[in-house]
Amino acid sequence: INLSNARLEKIAVKKDDYPPIKMPEMCICGRSNVGKSSFINTIFKDKLARVGSTPGKTCTINFFNIDNKFRVVDLPGYGYAQVSKEEKKRWKDMIEEYLLEREELKLAVLLLDSRHLPTEDDKIMLSFFDKKEIPIMIVLTKCDKLSNNELTKNTELISKELGIEKDLFYQFSAKTGMGAKQIQYSIVKFMEE
Ligand code: GTP
Ligand code: MG
Repeated sequence: INLSNARLEKIAVKKDDYPPIKMPEMCICGRSNVGKSSFINTIFKDKLARVGSTPGKTCTINFFNIDNKFRVVDLPGYGYAQVSKEEKKRWKDMIEEYLLEREELKLAVLLLDSRHLPTEDDKIMLSFFDKKEIPIMIVLTKCDKLSNNELTKNTELISKELGIEKDLFYQFSAKTGMGAKQIQYSIVKFMEE
């Protein structure tokens, strides 16, 4: 699999817009502004996804085709306080529809900001994947913003809070490329199986 042979295949807001199922899919989820689109650009191809300085940049479901082998799905972020109630509901419905309906979903990547403890919404996401028995990859983003000591400490705190062993987290930075190689390796391994 050539991860950088990547293109935007489809932009969707509802089920009817999704590309026809043919390939396995992995989705990228997490709070608004956590770094989902930046993650996609680092792991796959530069400038593939649109990155925003203000939260709420990605407000559609974007399907990326990776080497005609699998799809990566960039989901809108959740938990952004600065949008209207209606907008929040619309995003929530959009994310839920995707997660509940998409049978080809083989892997979920949950992004957590390395600087903060996970939110209730993050925990809801985790327990959802757990129930559906969808394998999950947890990535701590923006690790370049912390010192080594802080990163070690925060990784432990997040791990405790979620009750998930700390060795299972990938420490990542879109800015420095930290962790990208391991993540790419794991994705290829997973998708080739
Ligand atoms: P929404 O689409 O709004 O949900 O956001 P998102 O999760 O897709 O985040 P996005 O990739 O657009 O990044 C949000 C902001 O964080 C941008 O200003 C990025 O440049 C910045 N950012 C993302 N990843 C990193 C990182 O690893 N390090 C640093 N320093 N900044 C980052
Ligand atoms: Mg985005």
